[in-house]
This record gives sequence, C-alpha cells and structure tokens, in this order.
Amino acid sequence: MAQKRIAVIVGSLRKESFNRKMAKALMKVSPDSLGLEIIEIGGLPLYNQDLDDNPPAAWSEFRERLKKFDGFLFVTPEYNRSVPGVLKNAIDVGSRPYGKNSWAGKPGAVGSVSPGAIGGFGANHHLRQSLVFPNVPAMPQPEAYIGKAGDLFDERGDLSNESTREFAVKFMNAFAAWIETNGGH
Ligand SMILES: Cc1cc2nc3c(=O)[nH]c(=O)nc-3n(C[C@H](O)[C@H](O)[C@H](O)COP(=O)(O)O)c2cc1C
Repeated sequence: MAQKRIAVIVGSLRKESFNRKMAKALMKVSPDSLGLEIIEIGGLPLYNQDLDDNPPAAWSEFRERLKKFDGFLFVTPEYNRSVPGVLKNAIDVGSRPYGKNSWAGKPGAVGSVSPGAIGGFGANHHLRQSLVFPNVPAMPQPEAYIGKAGDLFDERGDLSNESTREFAVKFMNAFAAWIETNGGH
C-alpha cells in the first residue's frame, strides 16, 4: 500500500514549543502507512482578500504544497481559549481564493497541548469548527487534549511520560485508520 503523505501543522512559532515537541512525538510513533512532515506557517503574510488576484509568493507556495498531501495533522496551543492567529491565518490562506480551497476534502486530526490542566480544549474545538468549511473531516476520536505539558518531556524534548506515549500510539493508529477510510485521494 502506498504511504499517505501527511502535513503536520503546528500552531506555535516558539522554539521550545510543547506543541512542536508533541507533534514530533506523534510523528515518531506513527505507523509506516503515514509519511509525516512538518510544514511551516510562520512566514505566511496575513491574509488580505485584496491580494487574491496577485498573491504573495509565500501564499502560492503554501497552497501548492498543501495540494500534494493526503491529509493534515494539526497540533495547536490555546491562546485566549482559541487557536493562535498564526494557525487561523494559515487555514484562511489555504482556503482561498474562493473556489480554490487547497485543503479540500482531505481528512485531518486535531491535538491541543497546554501546560494548563484542560489541555487546550477551547482551541481544539475552535479549530474543529474552522475545518468544517474548508472541508477537512476531523477525526472525532480519540480526542487529544494534552494538559500539564511542562511535565511530559525530557531535556531533549522527547516524551518522558509513559501514559502520554501510549496515548500517542493509540492516537496515531486511529489517525492512520481515519486516513484510510476517508482518504480516497
Ligand atoms: C497570548 C497567549 C494566550 C494564552 N492563552 C491560553 C489559554 O487560553 N489557555 C491555555 O491553556 N494556555 C494559554 N496560554 C499559555 C500557553 O498554553 C503556553 O504559552 C504554551 O506553552 C503555548 O504553547 P507552545 O509551548 O506550543 O508554544 C496562552 C499563552 C499566550 C502567549
């Protein structure tokens, strides 16, 4: 079976980001049926509809890149109970110009990571809402609200918490099955 290509999109630009560490941990335990790659979103100019006819090169490159993937894995922090602007901007840029949605119809999954106790629940669900119109079916289960992130990683940035590692394996196996069932690309 051909490997499915998955773009991993991290909603934090911070060097020591817990979300980036979690994204890498998920990539490490993924089944071989998925080929995962982080794609960067920090260099995308803010979306402005006036530029649709003459888009910045970074928007065009991002849109073309998205089209080459079979699915998307989002790992996001929660900012003020929602997704960071940088991630919402990437979703908006990828979804336009109207009628040329580069996310279209490809399955995804959402995880949120926070040092807080409720694991970015608000961001996780705002992100799910934003994926509906671009037509990215988001895996419903298992839900991934990863809290207490400050206790989960060692000094090299690897997952040191065994139950979170076990959850990561379960999550990625379910995601691979979700991609198989809902892919078709
Ligand atoms: C502007 C801002 C707003 C934040 N709002 C929330 C919040 O609503 N809920 C939460 O759990 N953490 C919140 N935090 C704390 C982040 O969860 C924390 O900074 C986390 O480390 C960010 O993810 P990262 O490590 O991947 O960069 C906020 C942080 C910032 C900078």
